[in-house]
Order: sequence, then C-alpha cells, then structure tokens
Amino acid sequence: MFPKTRMRRIRSVKVLRDLVRESEVSVKDLVYPMFVDETVSSPEPIPSMPGISRHTLKSLVSEAETAESLGVPAVMLFGVPKKKDPLGKQAYASEGIVQKALRRLEERTDLILVADLCLCEYTSHGHCGIVDKGRVDNDKTIGLYAKTAASQAEAGADMIAPSGMMDGMVAVIRGGLDSAGFDHTPIMSYSAKFASSFYGPFRDAACSAPAFGDRRSHQMDSGNLREALREIELDIEEGADIVMVKPALPYLDVIREARTAYRVPLAAYSVSGEYSMLKAASANGWLDYGSALDESLLAIKRAGADIIVTYSALDFARAKIGGKR
Ligand code: PBG
Repeated sequence: MFPKTRMRRIRSVKVLRDLVRESEVSVKDLVYPMFVDETVSSPEPIPSMPGISRHTLKSLVSEAETAESLGVPAVMLFGVPKKKDPLGKQAYASEGIVQKALRRLEERTDLILVADLCLCEYTSHGHCGIVDKGRVDNDKTIGLYAKTAASQAEAGADMIAPSGMMDGMVAVIRGGLDSAGFDHTPIMSYSAKFASSFYGPFRDAACSAPAFGDRRSHQMDSGNLREALREIELDIEEGADIVMVKPALPYLDVIREARTAYRVPLAAYSVSGEYSMLKAASANGWLDYGSALDESLLAIKRAGADIIVTYSALDFARAKIGGKR
C-alpha cells in the first residue's frame, strides 16, 4: 500500500504545524543596531534603510525605550563623530558620542548595551585602524581597540563587539578590559566577517566608506568556509565569549558549520543590505515584508544562530505583539 508514510498528516492545520515546528525566533534573540550622530540636531532618516535613522542623543534614548518596551533585550551602538582624524581619536574619547550615548542609555534603560568597536567611523580616511604606508597596521591598531573597549566599558557598555577583523584583537581587548577592571564584561567578536557588498547602506549610514582602497586585506573572502572556522577558533582561544558570522543570509552554511563545530553562543548579523533588499522589494509590492522577514530570521535561526542582530528587530517585535506571528 503506497504511500504508508504521508508527510502531509502533520501539516493539515496551523496548530499542528506549530506543534511540530523545529525552530522558532523569539524577540528575546534579537539585537537592534542603532546609529547616534553628533552632527545632527534632529533624527536623520537614512534613505537606503527605510525606517532607520541617525539619531541625536535624545531621539536615540526614545527609540531605545521603544525597543525596550517591545521586549527587545539589547541594542548595539554605532557612533558618527563630528571630528574625524587619522587616529580615530573620538572612538576612545571619554566625551565621545558613543560614550555619551552609553551613559544616557544606562541611566534610562535596562537594555543590554552592546558597543560596536571599530575605528572606521572615526578615522578621516575611513579605514578600520591606523594606516601606515597605505596599509592598515594590525599591531598598532589593536592597541587602540583595547583603549576604546575600556573607554566604552567605563561609559556603561555591557558588552564589547569588535568588528575590525584585526589579528589578535580579541586577546588584546580582553587584556585591556581586565586591566581596567572590566573582567566581567563579555566580548562578542565579529569573528567571521566577510568583505561584503551587503554593507553598502551601512556605510552611507555611518559615513564610513574608505576614502581609498577597500577592506579586503582584513575582512574575509566570500569563498572561504574553512578559513571562517579558523577565525572563529582563534577568537575562542583568545577569549571571545560569543562569536559572530556576518553577513547572515548569504552565509547560512558558515553559521551551520560554526554551530556544529563549537559550543560558544553564536550570533549572526543580518546586515544593512539584507534589510534594504526586503524593504525595497516590499516598497515595490514585489514581496510581503512581514512574511519575508519571518522567513529570513527563521532561516538564520535554523542554520544555528542563537542571537540575531537585525535592523528589523522592532518591526518583528511589533508584529509579534500584534499577534501576526
Ligand atoms: C564597522 C562595521 C561595518 C558593519 C558593522 N560594523 C561596516 C564595514 O565593515 O564596512 C556593517 C553593518 C551593516 O552593513 O549593517 N567595521
């Protein structure tokens, strides 16, 4: 008698489908990235990222309060400084824009405050560290990362997220945090960060496009999976508490392999280009934003991510509260 096994039996009604669903995305898994800009006097919408703005300190706090009220547990901060210089000094200034933002958010919310750590938003040349003879100097740069991490923790960061892809950065940041008295502050490292076209809208948002060259001498080549695992392994050895794969959707295989190979919590960053694609297609009526978003986040979760960094965090949380998911 064929067929004895009928897969459709467990798909007949929604309650049954929900009962057998293997992966689920919760608002509690999400981190909401936010931009705080020292050069604006009112929130400045980012044209390539509909719904996302560069915030003033004031509007940042109110947007973060909205995130908190929707149940989003964490925000990740990116700063756009007034003054940029070759050494990215505003990244580690005690009165830097991110440090100010951290102090306010710590006072006003109970969110987990994650500080992105890179120099590209702060350097006049837009590179992720100190440039010497046309190259980013690895070992000089990581010293500044350690200094930045300590200054961010001092200002109230609950977690430091280094995104510069310098060799040895996690070990040096760990040392810097520990000797400044922040041995309890975890590091979420952007361990396998690929040189990706999908960062385009972010670079408009953070005004961080490199003035010359690109980031291919430190960010990873898109073809490499084994190398991504080596990067993750090194970061774990250096003391990373959480490792990250970035971007997310085009690298689900990397997320899956990392999940299988390591036991540390795994984050995936669904980047600006992934967000913009969904927004643009839905604005044209070509995709339904809400269901395409659900499916994308679910795919990232199914691949093995515990944490998802996404610009859609508030949209997802609102739909969840509205009972649509
Ligand atoms: C900084 C940084 C970037 C992103 C996060 N941190 C940009 C880059 O590497 O050029 C990208 C985030 C996104 O596209 O959403 N190094």
